[in-house]
Formats: sequence, structure tokens, C-alpha cells
Amino acid sequence: MTMEATLLCKFLLLDLLVNFSIGNAKPYIEPQSIPSIRFLNWKEHESHCGGQHQSPINIESDTAIIANYPEFIFHKYDLIFPGRLENNGHTVELKIEEQGMGEELPFITGGGLTDRYNFVQLHFHWGQHLFGSEHRIDGEQYPAELHIVHYNSKYGSFNGALSHDDGLAVLGILIELQPRDNIAFRHLEQFDNIIDPSIANSDALRYSVPLSDLLPDQTDSFFRYNGSLTSGKCNEGVIWSIFDTPIAISERQLAKFRLLRDENGNELIENVRLTQLLHNRVVMYCPYSSPSSPLLPFSDTEFSPMEFPLN
Ligand SMILES: *[C@@H]1O[C@H](CO)[C@@H](O)[C@H](O)[C@H]1NC(C)=O
Repeated sequence: MTMEATLLCKFLLLDLLVNFSIGNAKPYIEPQSIPSIRFLNWKEHESHCGGQHQSPINIESDTAIIANYPEFIFHKYDLIFPGRLENNGHTVELKIEEQGMGEELPFITGGGLTDRYNFVQLHFHWGQHLFGSEHRIDGEQYPAELHIVHYNSKYGSFNGALSHDDGLAVLGILIELQPRDNIAFRHLEQFDNIIDPSIANSDALRYSVPLSDLLPDQTDSFFRYNGSLTSGKCNEGVIWSIFDTPIAISERQLAKFRLLRDENGNELIENVRLTQLLHNRVVMYCPYSSPSSPLLPFSDTEFSPMEFPLN
């Protein structure tokens, strides 16, 4: 049997088991379920996808260990750069267009990161109905998730950083729904020219959006763990920061993502990898602490009042 056929059979079996277990013996697969086969079976044909430090995970907040990381510093996140949207057949990605030599792109420091991490791209995960985030908090899945990907500047490039334990830092931002549009997404949702990537897969953004417009209101509290990329070769060495404050878009805006297609013309209605086992990892939680009251009830030896800005 071909790989495709093997995967399809496994999927059928899974589907049957699920249907039987809920008392519904209808032996039928919805045609649109087929594209998600690859998300179920990545580990069999991609090199790192069967590793022990994989993402996404379900974060169990009551077992997370409290940590006092200094706050993130988002450098050049408030500036506007020319952007380009790309439908890579798996997600829609925003990159900053190549700048002249010496132009500094956005980067992050702080947040417990020991190095400077440069922005590479951001992309989205979404699904059908309300189940589109990759990370879950206490089992709760959100309608979508934004990943802002950075590489450790000391390795010179994204590719150079890929093989290192501290190579990448990804900010994970959960997306919920609100009745009104998110203005930042009105500029981003320019998907009409890249719906079918076999015709055209990239388009320059007409209105650039500063990255800060995509951050949640509260970036001081977040979960931290060591994981992997959730697509491609699932490379490990990703320092994840999952903010516990979501951002929000409208149902109309979420629906735009589901119009995108892959190279074979299949609808990209779901690009969510299943949650992975934690194995021997720990999840840290950095709670919000008001900068105006830096006297925390912790006697952590790593805590230093110098880490808190005086403003
Ligand atoms: C991630 O891995 C690094 C290197 O092994 C380690 O120092 C760090 O404590 C880990 N972070 C978490 C949150 O477990």
C-alpha cells in the first residue's frame, strides 16, 4: 500500500472507533476531513516529529511552576515595515520584505530569554468551528492561534539557529472571538490574491501593521516551556512563551482564513497539530506583577529588584 493509502486506512479505523464509541456506526468520512490526515501522522515521515520535546501541548496551569521572569522588551514592534503575505499551503505567513543593508527588523529581549531573538515571520493556526488553537490551557482550545517566530541572533539566521537548543523563540497568542472586527486584522486579511497558491502564493501587504498591534494587552504573564515547531520537520529547540491573555477577532475575520487552499486545491479549513505528550518537561508560569509594587511575596534567590524598570 502507498503511504497515502496506509494513512487513509488508519484514519478510517480511527473514525470508525470514534463513531462506534459514541454510538454512531455511520461508516462515512466527511470529504473535508481528509486534509487533516497529515496532522495526525506527521511523526511517521518527518524527522523530528516523534521527539520528546514536541509542540503543541495542553498546558495544565495548576502544575506549572511559578517563575519571576523580567518583562519582555519588544524592540521595533511599534514600527511599520513593508510586509508580504504568503500562502505556503499550510498556513498564511507574514514576513517583512527584505530591507536595505543595516535595516534592523523587530526583535525581542527579556522575558527570561538570555539572548536577543530576531523576528522572522508570523503565521496562524485555525480550524473549523471554534477549535483552531494548537495550544490549550487546561484543556480549553481557542478558535485560532498566532505564532510570532524569532531566531537567536547569535546564530546569524533562522536556518543557522534551527539545530540549537536555544535557537528559536516563538510567542504563542491565543485568539478568541468578539462581535466587532480587530482593526489590525482588517489590514492583514488581504487573502484574495493568495487563496489558491498554485496560481499565486504571495502578495505585498497594502497596509502594514506594527507587530505591537497583534500583541495581547497583557504580555507580562505567560507560560514558558521548551518545545518544537508544529509543522514542517517539527524541529525542537523552540523556547515557547504562551500568553495567558488572548487577542480577539470577529467571526467574519476568522472565516477568511478558512477560504485559503493548499497546492492541491484542498480547503485549508484546519491546520492544527494535535497536542503532544509532555514527557519529562516542565511548564513554567510567569504571573503578572504590577511594576509599581515590586515587593513580591517570593524569596526566590534569582529575583532581583534591579530587573524591574522604575517607571
Ligand atoms: C529549557 O531548556 C534549557 C536548556 O536545557 C533549560 O536551561 C531551561 O530551564 C528549560 N526551560 C524550561 C522552561 O524548562
